[in-house]
Amino acid sequence: MQQKIIILDFGSQTTQLIGRRVRELDTFCEILPYNKFPQGDDSVIGVILSGSPYSVHDPEAFKVDLSQFVGKVPVLGICYGAQFISYANGGKVEKADSREYGRANLAFINKENRLFKGFDDNCQVWMSHGDTITAIPEGFECIASTSNVKFAAYASTKQPVWAVQFHPEVFHSVQGTQLLKNFVVDICGSKQDWSAASFVDTTVAELKAQVGNDRVILGLSGGVDSSVAAVLLNKAIGKNLTCIFVDHGMLRKNEFRDVMHDYECLGLNVIGVDASEKFFADLAGVTDPEQKRKIIGRDFVEVFNAEAQKIKDAKWLAQGTIYPDRIESLNITGKVIKSHHNVGGLPKEMHLSLCEPLKWLFKDEVRRVGRQLGMPEHLITRHPFPGPGLAVRILGDITREKVRILQDADDIYIRGLREYKVKLSGEEARRVLAAGVPADMKDGEIEVSLYDQIWQAGTVLLSTVRSVGVMGDERTYEHPVALRAVTSTDAMTADWAHLPYDFMAKVSNEIINKVRGVNRVCYDISSKPPSTIEWE
Ligand code: XMP
Repeated sequence: MQQKIIILDFGSQTTQLIGRRVRELDTFCEILPYNKFPQGDDSVIGVILSGSPYSVHDPEAFKVDLSQFVGKVPVLGICYGAQFISYANGGKVEKADSREYGRANLAFINKENRLFKGFDDNCQVWMSHGDTITAIPEGFECIASTSNVKFAAYASTKQPVWAVQFHPEVFHSVQGTQLLKNFVVDICGSKQDWSAASFVDTTVAELKAQVGNDRVILGLSGGVDSSVAAVLLNKAIGKNLTCIFVDHGMLRKNEFRDVMHDYECLGLNVIGVDASEKFFADLAGVTDPEQKRKIIGRDFVEVFNAEAQKIKDAKWLAQGTIYPDRIESLNITGKVIKSHHNVGGLPKEMHLSLCEPLKWLFKDEVRRVGRQLGMPEHLITRHPFPGPGLAVRILGDITREKVRILQDADDIYIRGLREYKVKLSGEEARRVLAAGVPADMKDGEIEVSLYDQIWQAGTVLLSTVRSVGVMGDERTYEHPVALRAVTSTDAMTADWAHLPYDFMAKVSNEIINKVRGVNRVCYDISSKPPSTIEWE
């Protein structure tokens, strides 16, 4: 049985990060809403309670019946989780004089406690809280303080329960990973057997059992998630998998041809459908972004359905849905704030069952699985690309000529990002390596391409705008393009990437010289929020 840690989500922004840290310890975990503890599941080896935007005293605060798991498996409360354990057991939680946010140093009261194994004295932790614990319940002991917080960490003397006011999951808590390791591995007894290799073995076996000899259809997009899902299914059921890759005409330059070639090399059974005529005809004259999306979505389902109908006896529709697509994050009002573009695309009239082999994985884990399956690196490290493709990167109506201009400009930009190498060290290097980018550390530095350093990049054709330029002796009156590059971990928030000036100068020059129809290049320096990654 696959051991797992349950992380109960009380709505904190760092809940996903706790999940990632646990997975980095090669331990499987599930993030569940605070009130959805899976009672009677013997594979649960420990529970972590996350932080929350609430105070335990708020009438709407999320509350949980701790007796479901306390005394049965080890429990760790983080921030609100720590306050809630105190509050629910008769301790005291009060408003702090001022919100405490940022670095603090731990002074140990009981350094022998198992939670602190391998800790340095005075180690730095990260605080972010408005309330503070002013008295711990009976049967608990304080194990660490900071200059501002008396009960920075405390533990039960009778049961396996620990609570920390700080956030071990964030990078600034210097020994946070060690603390989580002490809890997950030493205290909960994780065997640390969750890895890309074990995932491939167990998932292939599960897929064989799940779909048996049934036929499965999978929609490929050229992106990493659907490609990895396809290769995994191919390994499990071989020719019973049929993949459909629809070209709506608004992919990147040569993308349809190149990706089809990659898929064929991977031995996938793929039907490539060039449906661009239909999409261009239906989009003619349409300028509203949502309208464009709707038309493309509708046409896609039509084209996909028509192909799928030809595959007799298909019983399953496979999708490359990944974990962050499904996690429900809660905001203060309890509403779901995350609704993702990739979820819910199953046409009801198809009467197919859904198969989602990657639904437990984070993006970097999908990439690791792809490497484990021997997929080519350029397919694995591909940036996310929107389903409607370049249609949402061309302002105004769409024509083949505008797509051609944008493809040419974008091709120069993306090739440039792949070719330009940068040296990274410290936190930047750690972030890139943690995302699974293969690079060797030498003298504390790694060398990666700009492309691998960023989350997503693309070019936008501002075809509703014209500006004057001069080329040779001639006046031009053409369109600008905007280059976009962002850093992010999940596309929910993003910052614009600080690309080197010499790179931007070279790319701008090349685009204006080579791409007919473009006479100006801008760089988008907006973050998300308040802007979005795509322009439309
Ligand atoms: P935004 O623009 O909302 O994008 O910040 C967040 C992420 O989603 C991608 N995106 C889409 N993906 N269909 C998709 O499949 C869409 O309509 C769509 N719009 C945006 C975007 O590229 C980014 O990765």
